[in-house]
Amino acid sequence: MSAAGTPTDPTTAPESTTMSVDVTWTPAWDRTEGEERARALFASVYGTAPAGVWSAPGRVNLIGEHTDYNGGLALPIALPHRTYAAVSRRDDDVVRLVSAQEPTGVREVRLADAVPGAVTGWAAYVVGVAWALREAGHAVGGFDLAIDSCVPFGAGLSSSAALEASVAVALDALHDLGLAGTVDAAGAATDDAGRSTLAQVCVRAENEMAGAPTGGMDQAASLRARAGHALLLDCLDGSVQHVPFDLAAHGLALLVVDTRAEHSHVSGEYAQRRASCEEAARRLGVGTLREVADDPQAAARALAALAAGEDGDLLVRRVRHVVDEIARVGEFVTHLGTGDVTGVGPAMDASHDSLRDDYEVSCRELDLAVDTARASGAHGARMTGGGFGGSAIALVDAGAVEGVAQAVADAFAAAGLHAPAFAVAVAGPPAG
Ligand code: GLA
Repeated sequence: MSAAGTPTDPTTAPESTTMSVDVTWTPAWDRTEGEERARALFASVYGTAPAGVWSAPGRVNLIGEHTDYNGGLALPIALPHRTYAAVSRRDDDVVRLVSAQEPTGVREVRLADAVPGAVTGWAAYVVGVAWALREAGHAVGGFDLAIDSCVPFGAGLSSSAALEASVAVALDALHDLGLAGTVDAAGAATDDAGRSTLAQVCVRAENEMAGAPTGGMDQAASLRARAGHALLLDCLDGSVQHVPFDLAAHGLALLVVDTRAEHSHVSGEYAQRRASCEEAARRLGVGTLREVADDPQAAARALAALAAGEDGDLLVRRVRHVVDEIARVGEFVTHLGTGDVTGVGPAMDASHDSLRDDYEVSCRELDLAVDTARASGAHGARMTGGGFGGSAIALVDAGAVEGVAQAVADAFAAAGLHAPAFAVAVAGPPAG
């Protein structure tokens, strides 16, 4: 998954620069390569050609972290890195699945047996989508599937949502569900309402079948994003706006640092953060924290009320992050709107500091990546995604990409940490 060199085009593997340590890049495959890989895997395993190949992107979130399950705002972009699913329908209710990333061979699951808790590992995300579609009343049957992906696994870049979304659009097409519509030449989806429904299906798969209590931003990004734009997602009502996001036009680039520090949303920390927010909302008598976030006076009263109760200090810090982070999304979008793109830097920095200090979801590797990027001239840097490992992003001058990556790689080596991997994020098209 790696190569070395100049990363201005996310689909090419750049030339190596010799400074202190080697810098590892994770280039995105172009669509033809990804589709051919999945098709070839399918043919080698099942002995026939698939009915088709569908794909879906991972994401980075620009800002608005741990806000989605609080009815807040988030601002992800779809990555050029995608998961490719070669799929054919079957006449029975058997799902056979194989992945180039999983050395376990072909797995087989009957949809009749696929209930929450019964399917383990990566198969739960795939079978979960079929299960959730059936739960929603769609007549989805068995299928053969082969997966290949250049979305780094476990890097906080939503490889699970990319997997779910690729399966969702495949099943939509194979069963004529009429939800996914098409993606036009400009990289825009034609049926956002249908995709919103598919995103909810994927969230059910992840929450109930895979047991990860995530909030929905990742699935929305993978299915509803638009090429060249950031997706302003309002998680209170599920509405979206597409905000132009063309960093190259401003001489800038978004560097992604995959720290390779392990993270998992099935583990307890993410669930604990979500539970704290729900407890705070319950004490405040509101449905979601969004209800106190949009009005500074209501937010101040809410924090004072929480401070007086049990675990007051902890809940205040959690809620303060959510309230401030929702405001930072607005600040970020305002800067983009005025063309003052580097003006988003302080909001990115404040977001990271709040995630580290108030929300406590950062880790040593993420902090080192962020601190080093800032010290090397990034306009702003922050962790992205759920945290506890995973990836950081840094807004840098286009000409500084390699230098910042080198500095981060050197800092990791000096600290005795596992070598990070780097990518350049350009806002790509959604699943299709
Ligand atoms: C993970 C979850 C998302 C979201 C982020 C934090 O990526 O899957 O739903 O909560 O963490 O913003």
